[in-house]
Amino acid sequence: MRTPIIAGNWKMNNTISQSLQLVEEIKSYDLNERVEVVLCVPFTNLQEVKKSIEGTSIKLGAQNMHWEESGAYTGEISPLMLKELGVTYVIIGHSERRQYFNETDETVNKKIKAALNHELKPIVCVGETLEEREANIEKDIVRKQVLKAFDDIEGKEIKDIVIAYEPIWAIGTGKTASSEDANDMIGFIRKIIGEKYGEEEKNIIRIQYGGSVKPSSIKELMEKSEIDGALVGGASLKAEDFHKLINY
Ligand code: 13P
Repeated sequence: MRTPIIAGNWKMNNTISQSLQLVEEIKSYDLNERVEVVLCVPFTNLQEVKKSIEGTSIKLGAQNMHWEESGAYTGEISPLMLKELGVTYVIIGHSERRQYFNETDETVNKKIKAALNHELKPIVCVGETLEEREANIEKDIVRKQVLKAFDDIEGKEIKDIVIAYEPIWAIGTGKTASSEDANDMIGFIRKIIGEKYGEEEKNIIRIQYGGSVKPSSIKELMEKSEIDGALVGGASLKAEDFHKLINY
């Protein structure tokens, strides 16, 4: 019932020419039509990647955006700009943005609202640090992140929002959360959505896992009842690995 969604987050990798080569390689494999496939590429590559995926079922994603439509915000990119480029998804509140670029729960909430107002689908990232997990407060942290992110967001929007649970200690470290731990936290996030909105929204919302997902770990993760997909960094940068991920 929930369509699985596997998204590559290229982060700050690939020039335009490198992007086009990677997309060509990805297209040379059969796509899995049962899975929604998204490529979240650097801003500079959106236009060319959009042309290159034309005629395929691959969707285009951005990795961040500002919440205002325009204005004196040097270096920022607005939802209007993304919309005109043919972007479907936008990652909001990735832990790297929270950690290095002062992204807060408040800005995450503003960006989600702006994305929805412009018919962009947010992929909202939440997740705890290693210290928080070791202190056994990971669920408190994630609950707070989810509730603040969804502040003032209506239930009818839930179908267009994806959550990505990315424990920070698992990102780029080679340490994947066990599929049981990932499933447990994602079930917990689903419960929070259920409490806030109701049973229907709880069952509709798609929640991905992210953090060192590899071709060797994807199947076990995707077999879990609560996990609807993956947000993949490193392993999305090689066409062969990405092909294995989307054909788990
Ligand atoms: P890795 O897959 O490289 O650990 O990155 C995960 C991530 O941050 C995706 O957004």
